[in-house]
Amino acid sequence: MNDQVILFDTTLRDGEQALSASLTVKEKLQIAFALERLGIDVIEAGFPVSSPGDFNSVKTIAENIKGSRICALARAVEKDIDAAAEALKVADEFRIHTFLSTSTIHVQDKLRRTFDDVLDMAMKSIKHARKYTDDVEFSCEDAGRTPIDNLCRIVESAISAGAKTINIPDTVGYTIPSEFGHIIEQLFNRVPNIDQAVISVHCHDDLGLSVANSIAAVQAGARQVEGTINGLGERAGNTALEEVAMILQTRGDFFSASTNINSKEISRTSKLVSQLCNMPIQSNKAIVGANAFSHSSGIHQDGMLKNKNTYEIMTPESIGLKNQGLNLTSRSGRAAVKSHMDTLGYKDGDYNLDVLYENFLKLADKKGQVFDYDLESLMYFSNLRDEDDFFKLNYLSVQSGSVMSTTSIKLQCGDEEKCEAAVGNGPVDALYQCIYRVTGYDITLDKFDLTAKGEGEDGLGQADIIANYKGRKYHGTGVSTDIVEAAGEALLHVINSLHRADEIEQIKQRKHTEA
Ligand code: KIV
Ligand code: ZN
Repeated sequence: MNDQVILFDTTLRDGEQALSASLTVKEKLQIAFALERLGIDVIEAGFPVSSPGDFNSVKTIAENIKGSRICALARAVEKDIDAAAEALKVADEFRIHTFLSTSTIHVQDKLRRTFDDVLDMAMKSIKHARKYTDDVEFSCEDAGRTPIDNLCRIVESAISAGAKTINIPDTVGYTIPSEFGHIIEQLFNRVPNIDQAVISVHCHDDLGLSVANSIAAVQAGARQVEGTINGLGERAGNTALEEVAMILQTRGDFFSASTNINSKEISRTSKLVSQLCNMPIQSNKAIVGANAFSHSSGIHQDGMLKNKNTYEIMTPESIGLKNQGLNLTSRSGRAAVKSHMDTLGYKDGDYNLDVLYENFLKLADKKGQVFDYDLESLMYFSNLRDEDDFFKLNYLSVQSGSVMSTTSIKLQCGDEEKCEAAVGNGPVDALYQCIYRVTGYDITLDKFDLTAKGEGEDGLGQADIIANYKGRKYHGTGVSTDIVEAAGEALLHVINSLHRADEIEQIKQRKHTEA
């Protein structure tokens, strides 16, 4: 028998919780579309009661995604469950995920309750959630450290109250695989109504064992695995779902369980999540690291040339990596760019061809040859921009050396072009002074990163900043062959979002005053 393991993705909830700057609704929707295409069964889109922004994202995702079930998180209290149901109700079918701590340390020291109180609260909240949907999941937070007798009791009660999925999280990443597998085994042996629910696991990676623990649980009978793309999540992160999917696919000889994942979408989804979340992937990471399919030692290369199976247990193509071998130049037309994007696995709705082509031509003029990785960077960058951006960098000149740097700019501000010049401690500092002066936004930088995208001296430079404005953090990205320009674009990315939000606020206030 080949059972299906449900993959439950919480990149947009547990993963997003761990980012220094929140994702926008637009970015979350982009990720949700990628997860849907990847074949994720359940997408946990957020925690609606936590903020109006989260509520709005869950609602937007529930409105737009049809191929995956959308789920929202709620503490075991009525107002959270009501908010989750309100955000999700635009979908035909949805899941409410409610949770409560069950370990002694959490029950006594965090909740300051007894275990019997917890049992009662869990039952009540599950019953309340069932008023909105048949698909209710209950999580026993810190199950990995919960005494097994208590865990069996609460799992039995939760199922009898109507939970259809029971999640067993190793919230603090404390257990080891044989131990965690044994917890799942005991639940199957001791809980009388266990066959009425799907047993799920949600493992954190504090000891680097989240994937191993999840796989041990699958071997013991769990049929839902929760996790995130690239293993994002609280502290050391969550189970990397791309690893779970490829383990079950590559070792189909060993497991009698498979997933709905279209593995050819893994690479694309992983890059998108890394880019939008501003979380680079370590190059030796399993499955999606840049080196995951490269062979360096002479002996390995020799083996690969003779027979790829000597050192390759899965192919790069199986996760959607493609080497086109043909590069684009400024003489390439729109059709050639589109055909390249098709081959890289991007669909028409993933990008605006007019904007991409305009940016492609600018880059091709500067660089000569445009490679696949350049095209992907341009696409991410073009998607972050709105055609109606108020501020646009029309001209940039930099003078720098071993003395103070001078920068002058021409900045398009709506219909007007403004000029400014400044001296700074390095060209980026001077450029940022100019931009602050012209736009009037006073921003503090919490983080500034420069990364080379692609190979060689003429590769694209990507600047990522975390900007702090009035106590809130914003992520800005800019891409260019000129790293100072990339830094300027990253700052303008943030300032344009702030300006758009300010404009919306002013319109609201005007309407309020008129009413
Ligand atoms: O780690 C955890 O226990 C969680 C729960 C909310 C499922 O994220
Ligand atoms: Zn978690």
